Amino acid sequence: MPKTVSIAIDGPAGAGKSTIARRLAKELGYVYVDTGAIYRTVAYFFDTWGISPKDIDGITRYIDELNIDIWYDEDGLQHMYMNNIDVTDDIRTPEISQKASLISAHAIVRDMLLDMQREVAEQFNVVMDGRDIGTVVLPNATVKIFLTASAEVRARRRTNELLAKGKKVSYEQVLKDIQQRDYQDTHREVAPLKMCRDSVKLDTSDMDIEQVLQEMKNIIARKVTP
Ligand code: DC
Repeated sequence: MPKTVSIAIDGPAGAGKSTIARRLAKELGYVYVDTGAIYRTVAYFFDTWGISPKDIDGITRYIDELNIDIWYDEDGLQHMYMNNIDVTDDIRTPEISQKASLISAHAIVRDMLLDMQREVAEQFNVVMDGRDIGTVVLPNATVKIFLTASAEVRARRRTNELLAKGKKVSYEQVLKDIQQRDYQDTHREVAPLKMCRDSVKLDTSDMDIEQVLQEMKNIIARKVTP
């Protein structure tokens, strides 16, 4: 039996996983692990080297040059370091989203990140979000939740988020990106996004953040005794 508690949250892009997971972690006093940010850091690294996320030879040749560190600030915000450079903000672009989705299909990339993710969960109580947390990374997670919403709702939320950050985006383009990522993330051979039998599905299409948070807390309370 693992000594730590782990809440695994999986689901497609834009389902609100990171916002919810961060809030949950804060309330529970757990560490929040955003695994998408780790894949984004890998994508950003190869992007700066001019290597395509589909170029498996280039990735295999240079992957050992990449050193990833994770650091949490006092607000529980996860900072990503690529070879000692803070890339936390740089990895949040639509281009890196797409490249992260493509690069995460390679077994060599996933294998490299597996231990890193498991080690955090062995040391701390975690809320970890991603695509394969319940299925591959933490198959014995204490609670598994599959968070989803229609592609249209996710695209609308993501568009508003990006516009609020001052980024110029259109709803149509964001929806196209999300649909493409959904396809890639669910159709890859290694650790595709899928719901596992022991996870609880939560469709947030008609819920606001507070409702989702409350529902997640109810699900967790049934499995975790304080
Ligand atoms: O959660 P996100 O949108 O930041 O993730 C970016 C990409 O990384 C996503 O499209 C697929 C990949 N990813 C993955 O393959 N496995 C994870 N556990 C997390 C993310």
